[in-house]
Amino acid sequence: MSGRLVEAAWAAREQAYAPYSGFAVGAAVETSSGAIYTGCNVENAAYSLSICAERVAIFKAVAAGEREITALAVVSEPGTTPCGACRQVLAEFAPCPQEVTIIAVNGQGDEQHYTLGQLLPVNFSGEELGLL
Ligand code: THU
Repeated sequence: MSGRLVEAAWAAREQAYAPYSGFAVGAAVETSSGAIYTGCNVENAAYSLSICAERVAIFKAVAAGEREITALAVVSEPGTTPCGACRQVLAEFAPCPQEVTIIAVNGQGDEQHYTLGQLLPVNFSGEELGLL
């Protein structure tokens, strides 16, 4: 499972649009249906409008009708973990954060495995709004 996801994330990284930072990132998520969705970072001349690879992958999954993400792989040269914003967005589609695997991979192929529960122990939840 994780091999396919990581490969998909590397392929997605090829499309990174990162002329400002020069930092290319690829991501892939697997959903409860078993499908894989990929993303790359997309930057903008108005820097703050840039979006991370992880959120592109998550939003593509949701736009395709998916509502539950089971795993996410993120690949970059130094092997970084998702930023706080992406962790919060992932939590929206992760009913059981302890069971969502996050794999961070570097250019040497070294993998670090975490759960979303480890990387975001407490998230802001729609349930607290009384709307879900
Ligand atoms: N970036 C990601 O795509 N994912 C991360 O996990 C961290 C940061 C992007 C945003 C920006 O395009 C570039 O990397 C430098 O921050």
